[in-house]
Amino acid sequence: MTEKTLVLVKPDAVERNLIGNILTEYERNGLKIIDLKLLQASSAMAEKHYAEHEGKPFFDRLVAYLTRSPLAALVLEGENAVERVRALNGTTDPEKSGDNTIRALYGLSLSENTVHASDSPESAERERSIWFA
Ligand code: CMP
Repeated sequence: MTEKTLVLVKPDAVERNLIGNILTEYERNGLKIIDLKLLQASSAMAEKHYAEHEGKPFFDRLVAYLTRSPLAALVLEGENAVERVRALNGTTDPEKSGDNTIRALYGLSLSENTVHASDSPESAERERSIWFA
């Protein structure tokens, strides 16, 4: 089934000039970029994006990180895009992420893990409405 998924190339990656390398990974794996922008996230946007983590000990750190410098938001489309993009990204913790995943290649830590991708088509719709309002 053709799906859409929302990806954030997070501040740690934009700061290290990694946007191109990361988008290349998606494109050469056959995913189509159908929307793309560079923006400075507000705290309200970051809090909305991470609503499910509100109350967790790392929530404030997560919001501070996502808003500290610009990020790239994009929508990718393709067969089973949600699952495929999450496989390309790897696991949340870069140290445990499989070889050649984006987080293993570029991730710095559990919080500064370079990319975000939606975990379901429903999350993708919700997250798209935040970043492409
Ligand atoms: P992401 O895929 O954007 O979605 C939730 C984020 O929370 C995750 O990436 C991590 O950056 C962050 N996260 C999850 N667990 C922890 C943790 N234990 N400590 C710090 N950050 C975390």
